[in-house]
Amino acid sequence: MVESLQFSAHDSLSRRAVLAGALAVSAGAALGACKASSGYGSAAGGGPSAGSSGAAAPPTGQGGPIVALTAVPVGGSVSAQLNGQPIIVSQPTAGKAVAFTAICTHMGCTVQPAGATLHCPCHGSVYNALTGANISGPAPRPLAEIPVKVSKGSIVAA
Ligand code: FES
Repeated sequence: MVESLQFSAHDSLSRRAVLAGALAVSAGAALGACKASSGYGSAAGGGPSAGSSGAAAPPTGQGGPIVALTAVPVGGSVSAQLNGQPIIVSQPTAGKAVAFTAICTHMGCTVQPAGATLHCPCHGSVYNALTGANISGPAPRPLAEIPVKVSKGSIVAA
């Protein structure tokens, strides 16, 4: 046991090199973890979208179905994507669909459906899920509306 704790000068140098390397790796990992967990700039987790100032133009486009009408609760909403951008799709009354950008007008985090409201996880803004209106919190403006329509049982960009 004691023999294993004795090192030659060479061993000691090697240990220092290994230790220095380990510290460098740890510091890099810690910085990476900090970046990844900051929430800002990450694609997931509600952080602001890259390059977003909270005033980004809403995604538009025509094409395939965004979501099935039956997947959206009447009087509620779901998260979806349009052209790779997060959006909210709502069904205010049976058979009627509306959509909004999911990018919070405060600092660009992604809002999440919560019944008839949308909640921003970053600073607590609350929006009306059926109109996009800002209800409370620091969000200065409503969510921008995205034109959609119902076609063959699906909600599609108009
Ligand atoms: Fe939504 Fe601040 S980014 S409340």
